[in-house]
Amino acid sequence: MPASTSGSELPLVVAGVDFGWSHERPMLRGCSLEISRPGLWMLVGSNGSGKSTLLRLIAGLMSPVRGCINTALRPALVFQNPDHQLLMPTCGTDLRLGLPLALNHRQAADREEALLQQVGLQGMAHRPIHTLSGGQKQRLAIAGALAAEATLLLLDEPTALLDPDSQADVLALIRALCDRQPNPLTALWVTHRLEELAHADGAARMERGRVGHWHDGAELVRSFSLLPTGRGGG
Ligand SMILES: Nc1ncnc2c1ncn2[C@@H]1O[C@H](COP(=O)(O)OP(=O)(O)O)[C@@H](O)[C@H]1O
Ligand SMILES: [Mg+2]
Repeated sequence: MPASTSGSELPLVVAGVDFGWSHERPMLRGCSLEISRPGLWMLVGSNGSGKSTLLRLIAGLMSPVRGCINTALRPALVFQNPDHQLLMPTCGTDLRLGLPLALNHRQAADREEALLQQVGLQGMAHRPIHTLSGGQKQRLAIAGALAAEATLLLLDEPTALLDPDSQADVLALIRALCDRQPNPLTALWVTHRLEELAHADGAARMERGRVGHWHDGAELVRSFSLLPTGRGGG
């Protein structure tokens, strides 16, 4: 798949998607979402509103019953719990899983080190994964997506299990990857943490299987604080 967003092609278009886990009750119904340029885009919504289902559809793990999903980018999912996606004993061997088989040992080692450096884990190729903090594991999972040359990161509450410092590190890392030149990444980030929305290029609310319009993140948070219950993301 080409990883460019040149021409009139948008990074991601989800158009009129229906999807149901059971035949009786469609989970997503007429779900649409457009990302117009690379950057950090956030979704917020109550439990069960379909956020994880939508990310899995965009990742291509399942197909919509109706509607379409178009992207020229290469998607990769990053889960809430990095232990669910780190499979090998050390940082270096885990990254190697995503690297092209054609690389020789030296090339692979160099690439691993460059990826570790990109996520602030330089020199840790031989570190056993079980000795990493939660935030370091999450950054290694992101390096794994980069090893596979992902250009569309689908992050499903990636900071939910992290302490505040690690949360800030992961957010800053994704922000930097989305701002880098050349080749800025596109990230779609699902969160429950309203304070994260202020770091987004756009934020939207997902409710009952549909995504609302993009808003300025801080503005969306303010609109939540005006709700009668005083709660927004759920
Ligand atoms: N693998 C599955 N099998 C059956 N139902 C599922 C599955 N995954 C999610 N669902 C259902 O789909 C709905 C939306 O779930 P999900 O996309 O996980 O929402 P969110 O991520 O917004 O909390 C929920 O009602 C959930 O029970
Ligand atoms: Mg979810």
